[in-house]
Amino acid sequence: MNLKNKMLSLAAAAALATAPAVATAKTVKVGVVMTFSGGGAQLAEQIERGYSLYQKLHPEAFGGHEVEIVKRDSKNPGGDVAKTAVQELITRDKVQMLTGFIYSPNAMASAPLATQGKVPMIIMNAGTAWIPSMSPFIARVSFTMWQSGYPMGSYAADKLGCKTAAAGYTDYPPGKDSRDAFKMGFEKAGGKLIEDIPMGGPRDVPDFTPFFQRIKDAKPDCFYVFVPAGNHAAAVAKTFFSLGMKDAGIKLIGPGDITQDTELQKMGKDAAGMITMHHYSADYATPANQAFVKAWKGAYGADAVPDFMAVAGWDGMAAIAHAITAQNGDVTAEGTMKALAGWKFDSPRGSISIDAATRDIVMDENVHEVVVEGDKLMIKVLDTIPQVKDPCKELKVGKCGG
Ligand code: PHB
Repeated sequence: MNLKNKMLSLAAAAALATAPAVATAKTVKVGVVMTFSGGGAQLAEQIERGYSLYQKLHPEAFGGHEVEIVKRDSKNPGGDVAKTAVQELITRDKVQMLTGFIYSPNAMASAPLATQGKVPMIIMNAGTAWIPSMSPFIARVSFTMWQSGYPMGSYAADKLGCKTAAAGYTDYPPGKDSRDAFKMGFEKAGGKLIEDIPMGGPRDVPDFTPFFQRIKDAKPDCFYVFVPAGNHAAAVAKTFFSLGMKDAGIKLIGPGDITQDTELQKMGKDAAGMITMHHYSADYATPANQAFVKAWKGAYGADAVPDFMAVAGWDGMAAIAHAITAQNGDVTAEGTMKALAGWKFDSPRGSISIDAATRDIVMDENVHEVVVEGDKLMIKVLDTIPQVKDPCKELKVGKCGG
């Protein structure tokens, strides 16, 4: 080594010795529990594509740390398989965070384990309003059934001119929650709910005909339907139109779960005029959403369409990245909840935040109308209710009151 090089390497060694400790990159294990198989598989695919796209396009958001995803299939909405999966993820795989959770019973069955194991749980779908109250370590980036159902009730009475309504819902917690939300919003605005029909469980798509026939006979002005997104929604629209309920003057309305972007084209042109309340459609014209849809098509093909599940996956991974970066890779349940309290994000759906008091999402709700453009069905936004906090908790209704 000549003298000049020797001096340089000595200088480098001295610089190293006095340099502040460089943070070491950590690998954070994140357990994802979703219905990767069975009837809910297409929903899991949307969420997985959403969070993977965020990871791919925003590596800088993770503060130099890595995320290692450990996937577990919860198979069905029943709760048992999800609970076992979460147990294994916590005790055997030692995950530091849990995410996914499409169906409410799966999130509910897992909530006590998040508390006992002190593992933060970031919900990417399950919408029953009181889920975050089941554990101090739950935060939700998706929606609550009340955020859509309650304003849809007021809108139906105030703007759609419905004096009477009927509700049909899938008979499990988010369905009942959605019905309760609609009923309260509708009746507070002067309407009357005259029929109220549970329509089978979330697992298999039922034959909706006998339920819808009863509704038709009751002659409500509006028919509010909640079914879980996926293959149930197209069956709702088809049954409604084939029974001639539109021609009988009944308006089909609901949360946006029944006009999901990925199901819309299967509903047929009759679906034009349906009104739903929701927080996302791939058809939103905002620059942020257009960029998201473009990136989605670039990654998954020109015919691929993101829906509200996709956007929850994207936003959920942004929340995870924020929590990891804020804790410099040393993730704890308390640290994650602290990082997420009040977190704000420019989502493709618009501006969102996590309410510090409830750990639930705050976002705009939009009135969606199904319209025909060319040979396609599209979502047109008629109105926006800005920055809606979960009405169930705001009004302290039932289990949301505690
Ligand atoms: C839920 O189980 O909480 C759930 C599932 C699908 C939806 C909405 C809510 O579209």
